[in-house]
Amino acid sequence: MDVLAGDFVQIKSILAGSQNNKKVKVRGWVYRSRTSGGLAFIVVRDSTGVLQCAVKKDAVGEESFKAASEAYLESTILVEGTVKEDKRAPGGCELSAESVQLISKGEPFPIAKDQSVEFLLDTRHLWLRSQKLTNIMKGRYLIVKYLREFFDSEGFWELAPPMITGAACEGGSTLFEMNYFGQKAYLTQSSQLYAEVFTTALEKVYVLAPSFRAEPSRTVRHLCEYWHLEPEMAFYSQKMNMQLQEDMLVHVAQKLVANHADILQALGRDPDKLKAVKGHFKRMTYADAVELAQKRGANIKMGQDIGADEEALLTKDEEKPIFVTNFPKDIKAFYMREDPDNPGTVLNADVLAPEAHGEIIGGSERIWDYGELMARVKENDLNPKDYEWYIDLRRYGSYPHSGFGLGIERLVKWTLGLEHIRDAIPFPRTINRVYP
Ligand code: 4AD
Repeated sequence: MDVLAGDFVQIKSILAGSQNNKKVKVRGWVYRSRTSGGLAFIVVRDSTGVLQCAVKKDAVGEESFKAASEAYLESTILVEGTVKEDKRAPGGCELSAESVQLISKGEPFPIAKDQSVEFLLDTRHLWLRSQKLTNIMKGRYLIVKYLREFFDSEGFWELAPPMITGAACEGGSTLFEMNYFGQKAYLTQSSQLYAEVFTTALEKVYVLAPSFRAEPSRTVRHLCEYWHLEPEMAFYSQKMNMQLQEDMLVHVAQKLVANHADILQALGRDPDKLKAVKGHFKRMTYADAVELAQKRGANIKMGQDIGADEEALLTKDEEKPIFVTNFPKDIKAFYMREDPDNPGTVLNADVLAPEAHGEIIGGSERIWDYGELMARVKENDLNPKDYEWYIDLRRYGSYPHSGFGLGIERLVKWTLGLEHIRDAIPFPRTINRVYP
């Protein structure tokens, strides 16, 4: 058998029943195996599924049987045989092998059952082959695909901002600083300020790129490098901004349920939980949210930022995401517009995902008046020189506009029902890990 030949069949088409009683070739890796006497069972996986192959010494001959019984977990293998319906086999069918060939036997695979979390992170490059992570990575791809599909249908342009920047977007405490040929520079915390530039030409834009946060926190929802979807819209109020976020989340949840219940189920995620994600999402002010969290036992004081514990209390019994609006101006970023109807608070909203997942989106209407922006730059002790280009946008043809940032891994964590954000990204960058 030629491993590069075009006549191999994908396992999913065999499992779908379209190859019953036909002779086929499959190509993949050994997922499980056991030999007893003259019979070997090899479960082969490819990118589309797993298939049991029954290898009988009498039927395949010495050489093929040796290959099957000597294979390690994860050896690369080719099997040719006839597909038989078999209710006892995983997936409802089995390949009755006629020939087996090892392409690369390799070495004994280091990952066995019940390994520690740290070991699995050290061997992440190998663990990414597991069924769990394979399904998560498929889910992540689909989530991003449906996000792009949504923004395409809404008439947005996708843009490419710089990842190396000269100033902070979200405050100095989580900046990764670098020496840029003798000058101070940073890995970007958010592409928002650049996305705002693009709205002057293209009106509705989004960026999908990494953001970097030197987060000293070890939590189930923080990464030091995460993927950030940041739409920005000219002539959008905060109300329109929130409606867009709601429509986007409903679109992704409903597409996942309609087209990929198999992936959700393989991950132990009940598709009905996502089916419930339809408009209209609850909206509450920061002040009401703090009061409610206090009533439910939280230790937060009015004026403090809402953290993971409070968010869990606010969302644990919710079926759909909720918006928390009108945070105090002093605990929010310099670019958020003050609410003219509720002075002291800003026209912003965080979206908190249900089932205690918490914040997945932060968004706001932006200050578009030159004087107001200059005052906020000063109040926040920022150097206007660092933001000169951003301030320029208010000098030449300014306009009301809004936008938001969605953490892709936070969305993946919620929609796929993961316990920890590190599993929502192939190679998580956390406070104590840059390997592999
Ligand atoms: O609330 P944040 O910090 O807002 C901004 O960066 C704005 N400039 C976004 C914008 O309006 N364009 O971050 C936005 C989102 C959060 O709601 C969260 O989902 C995600 O980014 N996020 C993180 N995800 C993983 N790890 C971290 N350390 C994150 N920090 C923020």
